Amino acid sequence: MRFVVIGGSGHVGTYLVPYLVEAGHEVINLSRSQRQPYRPHGAWKSVRQVVADREAEDAAGTFGRRVSELKPDVVVDMICFTLDSARQLTEALTGQVQHFLHCGTIWVHGPSLEVPVTEQQPRRPFGEYGIQKAAIEVYLLDQARRHAFPATLLHPGHIVGPGWEPLNPSGNFNPHVFEKLAHGEELALPNLGMETVHHVHADDVAQSFMKALANRSTAIGESFHVVSPAALSLRGYAEAVAGWFGQPANLTYLPWEVFRTTVSKEDAEATWDHIAHSPNASIAKAQRLLDYHPRYSSLQSVYESVQWLIDNKVIRV
Ligand SMILES: NC(=O)c1ccc[n+]([C@@H]2O[C@H](COP(=O)([O-])OP(=O)(O)OC[C@H]3O[C@@H](n4cnc5c(N)ncnc54)[C@H](OP(=O)(O)O)[C@@H]3O)[C@@H](O)[C@H]2O)c1
Repeated sequence: MRFVVIGGSGHVGTYLVPYLVEAGHEVINLSRSQRQPYRPHGAWKSVRQVVADREAEDAAGTFGRRVSELKPDVVVDMICFTLDSARQLTEALTGQVQHFLHCGTIWVHGPSLEVPVTEQQPRRPFGEYGIQKAAIEVYLLDQARRHAFPATLLHPGHIVGPGWEPLNPSGNFNPHVFEKLAHGEELALPNLGMETVHHVHADDVAQSFMKALANRSTAIGESFHVVSPAALSLRGYAEAVAGWFGQPANLTYLPWEVFRTTVSKEDAEATWDHIAHSPNASIAKAQRLLDYHPRYSSLQSVYESVQWLIDNKVIRV
């Protein structure tokens, strides 16, 4: 089949595009061509690159037609962030594609009620990103169920893998938090360190897309959490990382209002976003309907990322 992957050279596409090529599909990657995949792979030689700026073409109202003119059998949309953008593309592809896979986020959920949170629980998103993604979910599921648009939504957690900074035990992206833990230095965590983060390896996210394709009949008209088997508390995460370096974690705990003054504005904003969500998502539905079985636990995924930070001298341990 002919696949158009919109935004296929990023975290997930790095793994997904080679899987699609290996499965015998013709793959077109549509992106601005500003970046390369995180890992080289021979499969990219057979991928056709179409250069386009989705934001600019969405604003001009031409993006949907651009994708439809590529005559895809399947579209994978990695970079849709507004309801308008989703609507434009869906209208252009209705009746044109066999399957449409949208990359969502577990941020469609706001504060949890029961954990692990299932896909069935009511959405209470907050923040523009989560609100838009939840609106896209409502729209695509409605299009699928009412108008037979073949949409599936896959909702990853914090995507990690070698090549970029993972979400750290302070709930932000400052890589030096790992350095502190490696050196046995004191690290402050917000509150009691019991708020949670839920990672997923980019390779497992790619796996979920392949499984959704293979289980099309149960995937269409559904959304699925795509995370590791279990979330981590910040405290447990910090202790495990320190243990990788043979250190006891030297942790202190600060009430949020104090913690935020001890880190940069950027780190404080990221930490707040993560602890306010404190995700803990269930993968039972994806296991049952898609046969999704993540290869990596949260800690195993982060381990690879931290190894990459060390190998590339982003951190010194
Ligand atoms: N990162 C996370 O932890 C996380 C967590 C949950 C959900 N998600 C979801 O994952 C999706 C992103 O997937 P990803 O992390 O694999 O992507 P990514 O690493 O951010 O890569 C983005 C891809 O899109 C292309 N791109 C960016 N802006 C573009 C534009 N204006 N026009 C055309 N192409 C553009 C990039 O290539 P060029 O720069 O060359 O154009 C690249 O191929 C989003 O839907 C996000 O909501 C991410």
